[in-house]
Amino acid sequence: MKIHNLGSINIDIVYRVPHIPSPGETLACQDRSEGLGGKGANMSIAAAQSGCAVHHYGAVGAEGEWTRDVLANKGVETSSIATVDIPTGHAIIMVADSGENAITLFPGANFALPGDLPERLIENARAGDWLLLQNETSDVQKTAIAAREAGLSVAYAAAPFDANVTLGMLDHVDLLAVNEIEAAQLAEAAGKPAEDLGIASLLITKGAEGAVLHSAGKDTIIQPAHKVEVIDTTGAGDTFFGYYLGTLCQGATPQQALARASAASALQIGKPGAADAIPSGGDVDAFLKAQSV
Ligand code: RIB
Repeated sequence: MKIHNLGSINIDIVYRVPHIPSPGETLACQDRSEGLGGKGANMSIAAAQSGCAVHHYGAVGAEGEWTRDVLANKGVETSSIATVDIPTGHAIIMVADSGENAITLFPGANFALPGDLPERLIENARAGDWLLLQNETSDVQKTAIAAREAGLSVAYAAAPFDANVTLGMLDHVDLLAVNEIEAAQLAEAAGKPAEDLGIASLLITKGAEGAVLHSAGKDTIIQPAHKVEVIDTTGAGDTFFGYYLGTLCQGATPQQALARASAASALQIGKPGAADAIPSGGDVDAFLKAQSV
């Protein structure tokens, strides 16, 4: 079973600041760095590091071609990442001493995907594979519909969150991931709790409070978070969802997949950066083993 991720690729430009500036405030940063990010790229790497085969579909500008090498070195299939005549997406990220962040996105090439990319994805995929989507590229709903028709399961991380876009996706997804703020916004827009919207599997991440998985006809599963030092929370949710889906795809139970996802994000927030901080499957399993002793 394989994951086909139609996902964003960003260059993350990260400024370490004492606190997130208030409106009108000017603040000098303590450090500046650049690295690979994008919710799509982060999830591809997390799923690949979990041990699952992952094929990434996306686009970069010429100056961002190095991102393809980073993805490939982390085990992601990159032959369907196009180079287009538009700059690579980027994110201006401020990370405070508390580990919290604030992000401004430039979508760039992520919204200039080649027109035939969804069709190529469907051609490459086999029934039973998973399609993974976020809200940082074009063609999200169209690809979900085509994938379902081709017998794929659809996993959707509804971030950056838009309630109307997410409501429009509900008939086309098998697994929806939101954080608790997004779940509340979705509930408000829908007029009922997110877990009553008829989604086959709904994963709600709650940061330091862990995560909850609601699956139709099954018991709700609560996954506590590990108590760890927080350096940078950027990409923690992406790491959680990528590890969850990647582990599930390898035949694990939802409980086992949640345990690995939780451990992976605990390790990820202990390092700076997004994609660069995603741990290997070996490190995740060693962490879990150490916790159980
Ligand atoms: O979820 C974290 C990611 O959001 C960052 O890597 C940034 O690129 C934005 O897409």
